Amino acid sequence: MFPANNVFLYSPAPTFRTGIKKNSFEESTIKTIIYYFTGTGNSLAAAKSICTHLGDCELVSIASLAGTSGEIQPGADRVGIVCPVYDFGLPSIVAEFVQKPL
Ligand SMILES: Cc1cc2nc3c(=O)[nH]c(=O)nc-3n(C[C@H](O)[C@H](O)[C@H](O)COP(=O)(O)O)c2cc1C
Repeated sequence: MFPANNVFLYSPAPTFRTGIKKNSFEESTIKTIIYYFTGTGNSLAAAKSICTHLGDCELVSIASLAGTSGEIQPGADRVGIVCPVYDFGLPSIVAEFVQKPL
């Protein structure tokens, strides 16, 4: 389980961002994995931009993990999730993903 301050959620819509502290996207030495879901490309563009600023960062598609069972083992110091807001909440594929055990 990740400490809460090592998890962030970002969405292109400003209503849905958590865990982002001032300067938290500046380049750092810790490894980050960003799990992303995108419908039309905005979230992917945001995730790529965040990754570039973070430095040691890997992008993983949530859609590519759909249907897989078992624990998610990120192998990183920090985990981010980037996705669009759908109907004032998470897209269902992301809601299911975040229920998986870490
Ligand atoms: C089915 C659907 C529901 C949406 N619901 C919301 C919403 O409740 N609030 C909001 O701000 N944007 C909403 N949007 C807009 C998307 O969050 C926005 O277009 C986002 O940038 C899309 O990201 P993507 O290009 O990564 O798919 C919705 C879009 C779709 C397709």
